[in-house]
Amino acid sequence: MTAVLVTGGTGDLGSALVDRLVKADHGVRIMSRGAGPASGGLVTEWAQATLETGDGLAEAVDGIECVAHCASSPFRKTKEADVAGTRRLLDASKAAGVSHFLYISIVGIDKVPNPYYKHKLAAEKIIEDAGVPYTILRATQFHALLDRMFADGLLRFPIGAVPGSFKFQTIDTAEVAGRMLQLVEAGPSGRVADIGGPEVLDAGDMARSWIAATGRRRIVLLLPLFGKIASGFRQGLNCTPENTYGKITWTGWLADKYRSKPS
Ligand SMILES: NC(=O)c1ccc[n+]([C@@H]2O[C@H](COP(=O)([O-])OP(=O)(O)OC[C@H]3O[C@@H](n4cnc5c(N)ncnc54)[C@H](OP(=O)(O)O)[C@@H]3O)[C@@H](O)[C@H]2O)c1
Repeated sequence: MTAVLVTGGTGDLGSALVDRLVKADHGVRIMSRGAGPASGGLVTEWAQATLETGDGLAEAVDGIECVAHCASSPFRKTKEADVAGTRRLLDASKAAGVSHFLYISIVGIDKVPNPYYKHKLAAEKIIEDAGVPYTILRATQFHALLDRMFADGLLRFPIGAVPGSFKFQTIDTAEVAGRMLQLVEAGPSGRVADIGGPEVLDAGDMARSWIAATGRRRIVLLLPLFGKIASGFRQGLNCTPENTYGKITWTGWLADKYRSKPS
């Protein structure tokens, strides 16, 4: 049994990892900025901490053997939370004698010049130089991310615009969590092979599958986008077709999510 701190243990991936770790009988502490559920009966411990201030980090890592760092703040104070915050978490981990720092990163962050990806790349470099034994796993975009992008953004209204030629190789978060569990159990392994979902798809086709699965009436305009970031996504530099790992396809994931609750 390994004592594991899951930062971002309330998020999509973090909560899936917590499930896997608990089922595999590891000791799990969830780190969150929130105070935690009031009710008893938690099968995990809870640590309240904030990456961008460092508050609570020393207590969060106390007695921990492996930190699985899934917390991230892509839209707010990203540099403070993801770059400086990762450094703070590493400093606290080193002081507490943590023996394994496992980081989840993103495929193609060194090729697509998206500002968020630059911060993830900077965080990777900090981890490599920190002197705490580490593992870095890069995964492709999650099915849940594209689903949210369509539901809350691009296809929210009856007429939507989608960058149709962008490529994605989306993967299920539970499958990424399964790989992270293997890596927790393997111990520090450095930068390991990237993982991606079972197929590379155009965003236009993904949007059409999403409309069919959700039963929503939408007119989709395929948007041409220009610039280096768009070019990276058009070329599929965020994909890793030679490293297909997930078995759950986009349409399979959609069917599972929307079968019982069409809207
Ligand atoms: N989404 C994707 O498609 C994808 C693909 C590849 C890799 N990844 C990576 O996987 C990781 C998890 O992604 P996700 O989509 O599962 O994220 P998510 O659902 O947005 O969860 C992020 C978590 O980070 C925590 N958090 C945010 N700001 C924080 C701060 N300042 N201090 C402490 N905790 C903070 C939040 O916890 P509280 O709100 O409870 O504090 C939340 O649970 C990220 O590192 C991401 O870069 C994501």
